[in-house]
Amino acid sequence: MITAAELKGKYLNFFEQHGHKIIPSASLIPENDPTVLFTTAGMHPLVPYLLGESHPQGRRICSVQKCIRTGDIDDVGDAWHLTFFEMLGNWSLGDYFKQEAISMSFEFLTVILKIPSERISVTCFAGDSTAPLDIEAAQIWEKLGMPKSRIHFLPKKDNWWGPAGQTGPCGPDTEMFYHTKQIEERSTEEFLKLSDHGPFCEIWNDVLMQYNKNKDGGYEDLKQKNVDTGMGVERAVAALNNFDSVYECDTISPILDKVISLSAKGTSRDNRNARIITDHLRAAVMILCDEKGVVPSNVDQGYVLRRLIRRSIRHARLLSINGKFCKEVAMVVVSAMGNSYSEVRKNAQRAFEELEGEEEKFSAALENGTRHLDRMLKAQEESNQKSLDAKSAFDLFQSYGFPLEITAEMCKERGFSVDVDGFNNLMKIHQEISRKGAEQKFKGGLADHGEKTTMLHTATHLLNEALRQVVDLSIHQMGSNITSERLRFDFNYDKKLTDEQILLVEKWVNDAIDAQADVSFETMSLEEAKKLGAQGVFEERYEEKVKVYTIAKGSKIFSREICGGPHVKNTRELVHFKITKQESVAAGVRRIKAIVGVV
Ligand code: ALA
Repeated sequence: MITAAELKGKYLNFFEQHGHKIIPSASLIPENDPTVLFTTAGMHPLVPYLLGESHPQGRRICSVQKCIRTGDIDDVGDAWHLTFFEMLGNWSLGDYFKQEAISMSFEFLTVILKIPSERISVTCFAGDSTAPLDIEAAQIWEKLGMPKSRIHFLPKKDNWWGPAGQTGPCGPDTEMFYHTKQIEERSTEEFLKLSDHGPFCEIWNDVLMQYNKNKDGGYEDLKQKNVDTGMGVERAVAALNNFDSVYECDTISPILDKVISLSAKGTSRDNRNARIITDHLRAAVMILCDEKGVVPSNVDQGYVLRRLIRRSIRHARLLSINGKFCKEVAMVVVSAMGNSYSEVRKNAQRAFEELEGEEEKFSAALENGTRHLDRMLKAQEESNQKSLDAKSAFDLFQSYGFPLEITAEMCKERGFSVDVDGFNNLMKIHQEISRKGAEQKFKGGLADHGEKTTMLHTATHLLNEALRQVVDLSIHQMGSNITSERLRFDFNYDKKLTDEQILLVEKWVNDAIDAQADVSFETMSLEEAKKLGAQGVFEERYEEKVKVYTIAKGSKIFSREICGGPHVKNTRELVHFKITKQESVAAGVRRIKAIVGVV
């Protein structure tokens, strides 16, 4: 048997030997892309470098990245789809291209993992108006010994990857499929029907990333030709061990064991409810324990988290798990994932508390809401209606905290449909109001999303230094989160800032803006960065070479900080800085929210 840890070790070792530098997993909450809620692939933290910036570690990178994908949530419970998964990846940032990428993939699969090549099929891009048929990739496969009959050409919907958000790097890809049973030659049509559902599944994707999708939906050539690859750890482990599903992977199976042991006798390992609880609570714990941890709420990432937890609770009731169970399952998640991710052990207590809080809030509501829904459906039935309107579904959300998936699932079980679009519209309006209530709206209106987050990113550096200079030199960043509207900055301090301190901090930052200071970076060793007095969250996560951003006007240095960027070129681009809120997050931790632009 091969374990997840063994596979990860082999992968990183192989690519290290082929000149790649290993970088640590980034947070599940993406730093620079407000168009996506979660990190869905290993390439997210590399976007600036795929676009052409130079990476401090060079042109060959590899990693194991924590990922969350919510698009597949309806498939969760089947053999192959997961909400949280680990992704192995290797990247060429304008270095090697098709030939080497495909050869290395093939060597890793057949020589290192010793998969007989007869168990592998591949797909290549069939071509359209954006990019031509990828005959070159197919020829490389053929030269490696892949028979033509196992090379399938598929259209954009299958063989094109990205961008991860609405804009950014993307390109045609070539995908590898592993057959768990003796291979049979299949037509492309048959292949499509069976992939991911039957005797074989996709395990690796080599994206030939050479285009940038722009705001208008057009594709431009990137400055450089990149390779972006992704292999799902849990899928690969399942395939290599001939398991029936990803739930037998050693980083998941103990969690499923626990869920089954808590449930009514006779629950099988392919029980959909048990698998959903296992998947959702594993994802919830990884989000709660993330270094940029989020808590359940009704907006953005917090809402996804809430849905995962609440859906687990409902599926637990369907298996007659009636008391509190989340913490017990979460403890197994912590032991299954904690060895690979130290933040999971570090933040486990917080995760348990949040899960229990959510369980307390939702348990009674679930019972009462179910009764309420049954009454509504009965009334509908009496008037010969087999659907639930948007307003009623939304009432269930507001009064009982039922996310749409729960309402839809319950309706479906009873033979009813729900007005999903109507619900989503009401939800959008509701979330917009929540957001506006929570924060003062950004009024600049000039910059687009990317520009605004870049401005706020630079403002965060200035704010950090302003707090140190005005309030206390021992202040440092404990967390940061940037949306297109505001920055949020958590720091170590145990008192509320006085009105005067707030004004002085604002003035310090605005003076740096008015000084029209230049923002520049240099790549150096961590030691050199420390010697220069650069600020940074000094933990084991830093790589040997780091980027240090300096904000300075002539010899006057406003800030120096270790950071990946991106930043504005000159502080004048920020226009004006304003603190909108300060609050306490935990004992000894304060939070500031602030905006920049024409305010
Ligand atoms: N970014 C590519 C994927 O997620 C490798 O499939």
